Amino acid sequence: MQHFLSVNDVSADGIYAILDTAEALRKKPESLTGQYFAANLFFEPSTRTRMSFHVAERKLGIDPLELEPDLASIVKGESPYDTARTYEAIGADIMVVRHANDHWYDELLGKVSVPLINAGSGKDEHPTQSMLDLLTIYQEFGRFNDLTIVIAGDIKHSRVARSNAHALKKLGATVYFAAPPGLGDASLAVSHLSIDEACEMCDVLMLLRVQHERHTAAVYDTSSYLSGYGLTTERERSMKEHAIIMHPAPVNRGVEMDTRLVECSRSRIFKQMENGVYVRMAIMAKLLNWRGVNHEHFTDKRQAITI
Ligand code: CP
Repeated sequence: MQHFLSVNDVSADGIYAILDTAEALRKKPESLTGQYFAANLFFEPSTRTRMSFHVAERKLGIDPLELEPDLASIVKGESPYDTARTYEAIGADIMVVRHANDHWYDELLGKVSVPLINAGSGKDEHPTQSMLDLLTIYQEFGRFNDLTIVIAGDIKHSRVARSNAHALKKLGATVYFAAPPGLGDASLAVSHLSIDEACEMCDVLMLLRVQHERHTAAVYDTSSYLSGYGLTTERERSMKEHAIIMHPAPVNRGVEMDTRLVECSRSRIFKQMENGVYVRMAIMAKLLNWRGVNHEHFTDKRQAITI
């Protein structure tokens, strides 16, 4: 595995290898010997992804080099390309990038010599979020086949929906979307359900944030979104006993879901955040392992893994 940019570049075996390594690191943290630096280049805001990469790096013994856009030469007009090349020249061994461009990595591939990790690319993909979502589901059910997983909300603007739909289908889950009118996505060959059908049928309800910042106009009145398309307490009561609720967060409390459900017994929202640290450790360890940074714990124990 040279870079980690899209779930489409990772085989089912490769996903299981990441989940296994993340679980192993959760149970028994290991760190690298030697000095390594990670460039955390977040050109878009982030709390969970940025901080969990930071913690993952510190746990692995990698020094984080944080980009602070307001204090960086970006304010003088320096481009993301030149910023990345600068971090590489200064000594970054791995680069974690979030950018509003759907394919920010195109201009870096073949130009930088270090592994690139996609920490969110426009509306296209959020592959490390997908891995932490998969780990959360795997911990709960121990499998993906025979599970009905509904991704509900602002599908059209969601990179999380796109990454998860591809990854979950690859692993054998049955995936549906439940979206308000105008916020679905017909390009992904996923059937759409109403939120009422979704709640009754699903094993996993994966809610999405309404991404107001990506809307060109106010498409939904937030005060009526919950009753029309969100998870109300009444809909929660219609869910199967074992069904769980997920959300990549941040949550618009009272919009995608009733605020009382954010921390209810079905909710795995904070578990998802915790798992983010371990999947990001696993991904960085595997990328550095590919680069020749050897550590027994990070080597795939499965044979012939292609990621
Ligand atoms: N889930 C997620 O990507 O959150 P942040 O935007 O806070 O990183």
